[in-house]
Amino acid sequence: MDCKKKLLIVSHAPSPNTLTLREAVAQGAGHEDIENVEVTVLAPLDAGPEDVLACDAIILGTTENLGYMSGALKDFFDRSYYPCLEKTQGLPFTYYIRAGHDGTGTQRAIESITTGLRWKTVQEPLLCRGEYSDEFEGQCRELGMYVAASLDAGLF
Ligand SMILES: Cc1cc2nc3c(=O)[nH]c(=O)nc-3n(C[C@H](O)[C@H](O)[C@H](O)COP(=O)(O)O)c2cc1C
Repeated sequence: MDCKKKLLIVSHAPSPNTLTLREAVAQGAGHEDIENVEVTVLAPLDAGPEDVLACDAIILGTTENLGYMSGALKDFFDRSYYPCLEKTQGLPFTYYIRAGHDGTGTQRAIESITTGLRWKTVQEPLLCRGEYSDEFEGQCRELGMYVAASLDAGLF
């Protein structure tokens, strides 16, 4: 019987840099020492409430465009909010944002929606802000590894 915990990564990655960051999160989550966590990576337009209902923790990722999260991630929330509202309270989650120069509008929006859903932040969200830096990749890897390792250890 498959009793692995399920970690879902829902992330918008429209550029080479953001694809690298999404892969880094997944790579961290898939660290070889983490044995009992199954990682699924989906683009927001391919993800829906059924995926959220089936997972034990979720990491969201988005760019900031025009002061807000990507339309794709917003669409994911639009389709998932009410089907999940009564069923996913306390869901462990965190998120990362790739923002060319700000990120705060996106942060506020994600906080507002996930507060409404009553999801539980289990790791400080990551803001990859400004000119692209290779350091972002290590930070994303750590984010994925922390959440997956904590899930593996039964910490949430
Ligand atoms: C149409 C458009 C709007 C953008 N608006 C914002 C913004 O409001 N705030 C911000 O920090 N970055 C903004 N950016 C920059 C993106 O966040 C950034 O290009 C994206 O995260 C991809 O990162 P990359 O350029 O390193 O691949 C915008 C980019 C585009 C193309």
